Amino acid sequence: MFRELATQDTRAGAQAIPVIAIDGPSASGKGAVAWDVAQRLDFHYLESGALYRLVAFAAAQQHVAIDNEDALATLASNLNARFAGQQIFLGEKSVGDAIRAETVAAGASQVAALPGVRDALLSRQRAFRQAPGLVAEGRDMGSTVFPDADLKIFLTASAAERAARRVKQLKEKGMRASLPDILRDIQQRDTRDSSRRVAPLQMCADASLLDTTSLTISEVAAEVVRRYRQSLAHGPP
Ligand code: DC
Repeated sequence: MFRELATQDTRAGAQAIPVIAIDGPSASGKGAVAWDVAQRLDFHYLESGALYRLVAFAAAQQHVAIDNEDALATLASNLNARFAGQQIFLGEKSVGDAIRAETVAAGASQVAALPGVRDALLSRQRAFRQAPGLVAEGRDMGSTVFPDADLKIFLTASAAERAARRVKQLKEKGMRASLPDILRDIQQRDTRDSSRRVAPLQMCADASLLDTTSLTISEVAAEVVRRYRQSLAHGPP
């Protein structure tokens, strides 16, 4: 009885903590925008795609086949991952850059299509909901992980613009990148992420659309904060 009450209290408490859910396709700028918004509001930050990338990365390291759902779900449940600001650790190792590789992205997209893996990562994602608030970015933040989010934003940008951004990002990190290859990868990933059976990438009915094609990260972040403040004052935009 007491435990039941305690669970209810915790859940009610967690729901009182505001969440801004930012979803969108690969390279729509979600990561940088969500981080910027989190800084502006002094909120916590969840990059959910990193969890799928970590599963794919760990699977490759441990020679787990990318279609072995049970083994991948176990791996996802036991993932020894730690986030420190924008830094990401797997065990003691800093893997923030390694998981950005396009090979890891392709693996992440495959493991993300497995329901067992998604289930295994659900409670881990919800645990990021801590006071004073959370900015969570990914594909299903508004639809599945935080359906009660205070503000749901769906970011878009043309595939060509997103490919150009990704090439620039990779080059800045000293990695090789070819625009036609990246564009093809992005288009393939978009198709896989939006056509998969479980939690496909799609804009929720109650999300608000924000096209970032001709905007800077900072302009987009300012607009998200504006919509958040407006939703506090008047309800969702
Ligand atoms: O955002 P990203 O490129 O780091 O995501 C990597 C992969 O993980 C991408 O193919 C989509 C998938 N993903 C997902 O299915 N659900 C999320 N909430 C976040 C990412």
